[in-house]
Amino acid sequence: MLTGRLVEIRPVLAEDLAFLADLANTRQVRTHVVGWDWPLAADGQRDWHQRSAGDPRTRRLTVTDRATGEPVGMTGLWDVDWHNRSALTAVKLMPGLAPRGAGSDSIMLVMAWAFYEVGLRRLHSTILDFNAASLGAYVRRCGWRVEGREVASVFRFGQWRDLFRVAALRADFDALPDAAEYLERVCGPVRPAVPDPAARPDEPLTTS
Ligand SMILES: CC(C)(COP(=O)(O)OP(=O)(O)OC[C@H]1O[C@@H](n2cnc3c(N)ncnc32)[C@H](O)[C@@H]1OP(=O)(O)O)[C@@H](O)C(=O)NCCC(=O)NCCS
Repeated sequence: MLTGRLVEIRPVLAEDLAFLADLANTRQVRTHVVGWDWPLAADGQRDWHQRSAGDPRTRRLTVTDRATGEPVGMTGLWDVDWHNRSALTAVKLMPGLAPRGAGSDSIMLVMAWAFYEVGLRRLHSTILDFNAASLGAYVRRCGWRVEGREVASVFRFGQWRDLFRVAALRADFDALPDAAEYLERVCGPVRPAVPDPAARPDEPLTTS
């Protein structure tokens, strides 16, 4: 569906569910993502997938490695707010499986898709204060702004950790040096308008 430099992003398939349970249960992922959940059973994923597939405010997507076609992570849009045209987004990749740079590639694809195909104008997320890779990918590589800091907001490692609120508008995406490339990856080349089909052809010139 969305083809980047390193990854492809497509809807979640039933055959991805065991991988997605594995991803959610992986310690390095569990410690770095903001939300917390009980450990997941692989066979519990089917209900979860069916529930979320029917939710118009959520679109979960699988990230695959372009070289192998194998799932390496997940991303998507959550809490889609059609009135304010905004949504939450996130990405999680399996450590050791996703190629280096897959995070930024996934984020750029989701930004181009959300802003230029879905029709949103603002994406937002939250990042734990120790998550250097996520801050590197979203803020340094993909032009997101840190809009605020919630102090002692999230319980992790038995400590209360700070949380950065981050966001990007379509204009932030447009200002990135790679914006045109990712726009074309998602939407194809922008076509010029055809001349007005209702316009009458020029009258032939008459000479007297
Ligand atoms: C966050 C995540 C998606 C980033 O993916 P990624 O493929 O590592 O990201 P990228 O390589 O595209 O970009 C990360 C940038 O941060 C840098 N970075 C990574 N770890 C870093 C660290 N410990 N300190 C400083 N910079 C770091 C990288 O060098 C890279 O910058 P560069 O390309 O300029 O060198 C991935 O690490 C992941 O899934 N982590 C587990 C789940 C998670 O934290 N999800 C995000 C929740 S908000």
